[in-house]
Amino acid sequence: MAAARASAPGKVILFGEHAVVYGEPAIAVALSLRTEVIVKEGGDQHRVNGAPLSPYHHAYIKDAIDGLWKGGPLDVRTDSRIPSASGLGSSAALSVATVGALLQLQGRFAEELVAREAYNAEVSAQKGRGSPTDTSTASHGHAVLVDGQKRDGLLWDVQRGERRWYLHHLDVPPLTLVVGHTGVRGRTADEVAKVARFVKRTGFAREVIRDLGRVARSAIPLLARQDKPALGQRMDEAHNLLRILGVSHPRLDELCDAARKHAYGAKLTGSGGGGSMIALTDQPEACAAAIRKRGGTPFTVQLGGPGVSASSW
Ligand code: MEV
Repeated sequence: MAAARASAPGKVILFGEHAVVYGEPAIAVALSLRTEVIVKEGGDQHRVNGAPLSPYHHAYIKDAIDGLWKGGPLDVRTDSRIPSASGLGSSAALSVATVGALLQLQGRFAEELVAREAYNAEVSAQKGRGSPTDTSTASHGHAVLVDGQKRDGLLWDVQRGERRWYLHHLDVPPLTLVVGHTGVRGRTADEVAKVARFVKRTGFAREVIRDLGRVARSAIPLLARQDKPALGQRMDEAHNLLRILGVSHPRLDELCDAARKHAYGAKLTGSGGGGSMIALTDQPEACAAAIRKRGGTPFTVQLGGPGVSASSW
């Protein structure tokens, strides 16, 4: 019986979450935390970790199988080091690793194809409003700049309806980030839908989206120069704008305030509504201790690991 394994990284969004859905730029970086998926042909029905595949519990895996697999039953095993609903890209890593393993099983594994098919699977699982930021970052790894226009380092572009996103490779500077997990589950689909309602109703929300885009754009040269004080200030500004947009959470605000005493700046990362924050710091231990003292779960992350990988046997 044929079998394949694939692994994909989680991510943090440094700048541009939510605004990227509306064509503004975003910068996302792969993490060293990863998800692994093994698929094997065989059995009487599709199974995930021994249980029958459930459209409710295994939506991302089901949508990947529905989109890519015409063969018989599959036995799927998953192993993830990325906390779920944490804003750290656990669902994108699961989609990418599942798609990677399915394509590997068919002898069609390629980074760009994985990114496209995983985005299709995620759009269908999330009832489709999001951008390809998370799935492309989990596929390519390193760092990815998403923009509404082409720049140097273009990887691929992805279109959905009227919107087209250009995904670019970005060199990752050796920065230390401390992640603080609130322990509150944030649901990306709900937060993205909430922002969509706000943007539809008010010009003010559209202005906030444009401001988030401006902040992300201004961070690109600062990252290249590793100008930590200026980057930290942009992070604080981005957090404030995301708070105005309604996607922060009191726990996120508290952890950011605590972390800032030992950091250049701090902001929520990903879709918000709970999930995680990040702080840019030269004092990771002090920053992590401050986050822990406020009840968060801190971890120091290495940025810019490799993207999706696969093997078969
Ligand atoms: C979630 O990690 C990032 C969002 O911008 C949604 C998306 O881009 O699909 C909130």
